[in-house]
Amino acid sequence: MSLFYSDMTRRLSQPGSDVWGIHDEAVARQRAGDDIILLSVGDPDFSTPEYISQYTVEQINRGRTHYSPPEGEPQLRETIARLESDLTGKSFSAEQFVVFPGATATLYSVFASIANPGDEVVVPEPLYAGYRGLFDALGIHDVTVPLSLPDFELDVAAVFAAVTDTTRAVLVNTPGNPCGNLIPCESLAALARGCRERDLWLVCDEVYSLITFETPHISLLRSTDDLSNVIVIDGLSKSHAMSGWRLGWAVAPEQLITQLIRVSGATLFGTSQFIQDGAAYALANDGPDVEKMRVEYQRRRDYAAQRLDAIAGLDYFKPRGGMFVMVDSSRIANDGADFARRLLDEAGISVVPGRGFGESAASYVRVSLTHPVSVLEDVFDRIARVAGHMQRY
Ligand SMILES: Cc1ncc(COP(=O)(O)O)c(C=O)c1O
Repeated sequence: MSLFYSDMTRRLSQPGSDVWGIHDEAVARQRAGDDIILLSVGDPDFSTPEYISQYTVEQINRGRTHYSPPEGEPQLRETIARLESDLTGKSFSAEQFVVFPGATATLYSVFASIANPGDEVVVPEPLYAGYRGLFDALGIHDVTVPLSLPDFELDVAAVFAAVTDTTRAVLVNTPGNPCGNLIPCESLAALARGCRERDLWLVCDEVYSLITFETPHISLLRSTDDLSNVIVIDGLSKSHAMSGWRLGWAVAPEQLITQLIRVSGATLFGTSQFIQDGAAYALANDGPDVEKMRVEYQRRRDYAAQRLDAIAGLDYFKPRGGMFVMVDSSRIANDGADFARRLLDEAGISVVPGRGFGESAASYVRVSLTHPVSVLEDVFDRIARVAGHMQRY
């Protein structure tokens, strides 16, 4: 028997850059009892704030366990619209938002609606590794434009130089994973304008919007007045430590909203009612818990920076947001893959080799700030030891 498989399955099984190889091996070793510290995933180590969980359990007990409209529950859409209006000074209505089970499903539905297989999307790199899987699933080609070193700044002219006849969209991510860079308001405005002039969509992934350090996040929604070609994606996985709840949303122009609702209705059949109730409650009652987590990420970032400053042979970019630090090993290792391998084999530290985020990050490793400082003390002791050995050879 020779049963048929789609082109999508073939695209998804292509050997890509081995982004998760070290992580998978580290998890297996940890399960086998080895002393391993995982700094290779972007899942918050905090528990979801208790008041959110408690309220959501009450919603389950109230019977909020049925189908939900494909566009999302009115109360959640209204809550998001109110928040975005407060943050941007513009007036948003619930009808401008569609809710999905996570930012990933949102991104998938957006790109399924704005590009065909074979089309191109221009995206700065280093880029969030998850975009590659999404594009492979949809048969979209990503055209990458390196961010400018040493600050991982976006070069708007370089983005437009990469546009071709088959480009449908530009995708940016601020605050950025993996670099922790922020795209300034003027660049977002220039991108939106340039995309409009070229009939392109501008998609901005802002899932780390509430985790910034010295300067607050500025949304694309605030950066430009004309939102006719603009799509912004956000969610609760990072800011509220709700990664397992699966809750995200898109803000988009009216016609695209109609399409997104069709995609959601056809493929997802809506997002869980009680999860949306919990999300609306979380957003309406944010309070100190979300801020506490942000402050803790900043404390960890500061600690990591202080330790990295003292390790000879390593350079790094001090992130301005998000939950990762990019460490450049080019002075002591052949590349980030070499350094990541040595960290795992000699010190039980699991980080992601930079090449997984694009060739321009090949000499880097990405370190997640998903452990308290008490654990990071041990982490950076181990990293310093390995870097010290590597310097001597
Ligand atoms: C930049 C970026 N976008 C999207 C996602 C996925 O978010 P979600 O958990 O809402 O699907 C992640 C998760 O790591 C991310 O880093």
